[in-house]
Amino acid sequence: MKKVSVKLVPLGKKFQAREGTPLIDILHEYGVEFPCGGKGTCGKCRVKVLKGSIEADENHREKLHKLDLSDNWRLACLSRCTEDLVLEVEQYEVIIQADETTFDFTPQTGLGIAFDLGTTTLVGQLLDLSSGKILAVETDMNPQKVYGSDLISRLETALSNGSEEMTRIIREKIGEMTGKMMQDRKVPVDRMVIVGNTVMQHFFCGYDIKPLSFYPFKSPNLNLATFTSDELGWKIPPSSQVSFYPSIGSFVGSDILAGILATGMHRKGAYSALIDLGTNGEIVVGNKERLLCASTAAGPAFEGAKISQGMQATTGAISSIDGNEQGWRCSVIGNGVSRGICGSGLIDAVSVLVEGGLIGEFGEIISGESEIALDSRVSLSQKDIQEFQLAKAAISAGIEILIRKLGIQIEKISDVYIAGGFGNYINLENVIRVGMLKFPEEVMHKLGNSALIGGKMFLFEDPDHPDGILEIIEHVSLESEPGFQDIFIENLAFGG
Ligand code: FES
Repeated sequence: MKKVSVKLVPLGKKFQAREGTPLIDILHEYGVEFPCGGKGTCGKCRVKVLKGSIEADENHREKLHKLDLSDNWRLACLSRCTEDLVLEVEQYEVIIQADETTFDFTPQTGLGIAFDLGTTTLVGQLLDLSSGKILAVETDMNPQKVYGSDLISRLETALSNGSEEMTRIIREKIGEMTGKMMQDRKVPVDRMVIVGNTVMQHFFCGYDIKPLSFYPFKSPNLNLATFTSDELGWKIPPSSQVSFYPSIGSFVGSDILAGILATGMHRKGAYSALIDLGTNGEIVVGNKERLLCASTAAGPAFEGAKISQGMQATTGAISSIDGNEQGWRCSVIGNGVSRGICGSGLIDAVSVLVEGGLIGEFGEIISGESEIALDSRVSLSQKDIQEFQLAKAAISAGIEILIRKLGIQIEKISDVYIAGGFGNYINLENVIRVGMLKFPEEVMHKLGNSALIGGKMFLFEDPDHPDGILEIIEHVSLESEPGFQDIFIENLAFGG
């Protein structure tokens, strides 16, 4: 019998099923629950059809109508897969971090909108520029997720099919979110700032992504890009100015530039560090005289990719593990059964297993077995541990090189800011224990959504000189630094 492929987002799992198989038969394996037992009355098993189509008979349509669900929603309990599908499962919640941090600013007139355009999530906030008050917030998932949850898959798709579609859907989504925030407002938005990583910048601005995909990974399009809302095809009146802020280097985007502004590290005499533990593991170290930044190619291990049971931080992910002499206890997002492990859980798992003597100093599983069961459903393999070691060594070696290049000792760093949604959920004690960050816990601060905080601050700045940061920052290519390989290898081992 013919097989069809089904992909579930934001989980990122893809599997084959026999054509015509009821979705209820396969989705429960992936942690989807069917509270009304598949009667089609609770609506909790709803899925959004992102690609392909699912036939709905009259009964199904009636149920959808009663639940006020629009055209591309289906109830999984009443659906069958008859062709290749990409489905967004509503039960897999992704935590989207908005922000309410206050900051100093010089009041201006009018309205401004700041957007954090993330690989996974999108957050926009509308501000009254005279008071700094947040008037509206919009959050959503990045619609490009249908082409893969990580940057690499999206770059691959864009390389083979062209990036026009990536550009079209992200512009359309940001335009739609902006429209919602501006609904029923009498005055137009005066300024709009968008920040994001370099790949997102290239997709949004419609730049050629080939320079980001091949050696020497140098794009000529890193500067500030300004559009009118008309040019973007948005239906907001009239021609508001939309600025995508500049990237600092090929893999250090304006989300990091915004993060620097949010920390104020570019204005301090004392040395600070800013660390974003996403795919590229961006690092900035320095003070008001000089800032050095780099991306570390930490790889997508912390985002679940390359880890055998890795997944994003959604329902069913082991997100933290507490250990003691007796063993350990896993906490699962949503408190249901575990389906995999996300970045923060991975750090905890390795730390607890190293501490418990189950993993050796060089990452070897002491028992000689090929994996360690974390609970009855999720295990960590020898290869997963190696992937973790590569990611954590990339971060710690990157920090070491930037500190050396500044000619200072690590003790000189008085504040370390951990950026990004993932950074907010990590256990700092465990991060130190596995040797990923070698700073004392008391100097480390979790920043929350620093990209959005900085994006809002940019609304009050001259876009051509974002608070003088670009004048003092230098992008360092870690791989070309003398001694990089040796430092990287030294950092593979566990321990402080
Ligand atoms: S399980 Fe209740 S509507 Fe599908």
